[in-house]
Amino acid sequence: MATERYTRFKDISVSERVLNTVFLLTIGLGYLMALANLYYTHQGHDGEAGLSIEDVMINYHGSNGSTRLGSAINGIMEPNLKYKSDKEVILKWIQEGAEETGYDEKIAPILNRDCILCHSPSINPNLPDLTNYAGVAEVAHSGGASYPRLIRVSHIHLFGIAFILYFIGRIFLLCDINVYVKRVAVVIPFIAMLIDISSWFVTKINPAFAYVVVGSGGLMGLSMGLQILLSIYQMWFYTNNDE
Ligand code: HEC
Repeated sequence: MATERYTRFKDISVSERVLNTVFLLTIGLGYLMALANLYYTHQGHDGEAGLSIEDVMINYHGSNGSTRLGSAINGIMEPNLKYKSDKEVILKWIQEGAEETGYDEKIAPILNRDCILCHSPSINPNLPDLTNYAGVAEVAHSGGASYPRLIRVSHIHLFGIAFILYFIGRIFLLCDINVYVKRVAVVIPFIAMLIDISSWFVTKINPAFAYVVVGSGGLMGLSMGLQILLSIYQMWFYTNNDE
């Protein structure tokens, strides 16, 4: 063994190992709670129980079927339509992206006839304003995550998770394993987190990226979990036969 070497788990005191262990276990539990929270906040967006890739797509990208205008005329507002056929006209317009082109000639006449007697700010300021394109667009677009929300959640994740990964990584570096494995292993969760967060923004534009969100999120959890488990194992159950 070389005379100059770095600190390993066997070089640290038992109290330090105890502290490391309770920290890692608490983070592990926190991670499980984060997964449970993810499940409960995002499951069922697609109308079916359980978390699916469609739920992730709807969360970031939105869904044409679930606009407020679409659900309203499929549901409680339907009886206000004078002609049933107008429902298809509106739904088709929503499906095609609820663009301003076509609004004036196809959509406005229907809303002006059947809806604005209630949906006008002068009559009821609490209802969606259906007297102009801007007001209608607000309820006709699919939603998904807004940029302010994505930016808010991103900065919380970047600051918070960077700290968590840093401390887990510092402890993990005391493991007695191949140095090249370690050098790569400490970087993986950070890269996975960056890919995860950037793909939220991409998924807002292209729903297929929901797979990247799930894959990179999973990779981060997995690599973090392995660092935690290996560290706890080496701290308490591992003896180096070289010395
Ligand atoms: C008689 C008055 C009246 C008419 C006419 C009317 N609405 Fe409404 N609308 C309401 C009321 C009241 C609410 C709020 C209902 C609630 O929150 O339960 C509402 C809510 C809505 C909402 C919001 C639903 C949500 O997500 O909160 C939309 C969208 C909507 N109406 C669209 C329409 C359309 C389209 C028409 C014309 C076909 C129409 N409404 C005609 C009274 C009306």
